[in-house]
Amino acid sequence: SVPVLTIDGPSGSGKGTVSRLVAARLGWHYLDSGALYRAVGIAAGWSDIDLSDASALVRCAFDTDIAFRDDGSGELRVIVNGTDATDELRTETAGAAASAIAAIPEVRAALKERQRAFRRPPGLVADGRDMGTVIFPDAPYKVFLTASAEERAERRYKQLKEKGVSVTMDGLLREILARDARDASRAVAPLRPASDAVLIDTTGLPVEAVVARVLDLVSR
Ligand code: C5P
Repeated sequence: SVPVLTIDGPSGSGKGTVSRLVAARLGWHYLDSGALYRAVGIAAGWSDIDLSDASALVRCAFDTDIAFRDDGSGELRVIVNGTDATDELRTETAGAAASAIAAIPEVRAALKERQRAFRRPPGLVADGRDMGTVIFPDAPYKVFLTASAEERAERRYKQLKEKGVSVTMDGLLREILARDARDASRAVAPLRPASDAVLIDTTGLPVEAVVARVLDLVSR
């Protein structure tokens, strides 16, 4: 079957950057599963759906059209219902909305097949929270990335500032900790490493070092 490398971990652990680089290096497809939850969250906002209206959110998860487009710069644009929502998706507001709807089991179920459809030859790098535990439990390669909360907040801070989003370090640290706490404590697919995942603490590690360790795992 088509090989999958799952890369799970909390926000700011380096998942996104590492996954994209590893996928490019291997020539494999890339799934940014967080973008799906973020897209449903903002589509719900566009339709004035209340974040407490579970059945409307589930419908929204089924109905929202989400497409990834390579703009040539190596950055994936995310098109939600025909609109380029890449910048809006990156905000911590979108992250918080994603985390809220991601706690609804039926929303997670609605997105399951869409995620599995990314598994195409020659291989897939899947980035998220439950890639190794729920979506691709049979993946031959599983990684779980961690980093100290301060470093994770700092990485997000730099990323957002580069994109011109104005945030404070304190606010960001608080938001990230709240989001991780919710992701780790929800009843369905809580954030945790798969029993067969390789744990890598990326605190103080340069991106290239993490990429090398992950590639080493796949080539073994
Ligand atoms: O990875 P990212 O920060 O874009 O994810 C946003 C939110 O979406 C997470 O905080 C989490 O609540 C949810 N998510 C999830 N399962 C995934 C990916 C993301 O629950 N596989």
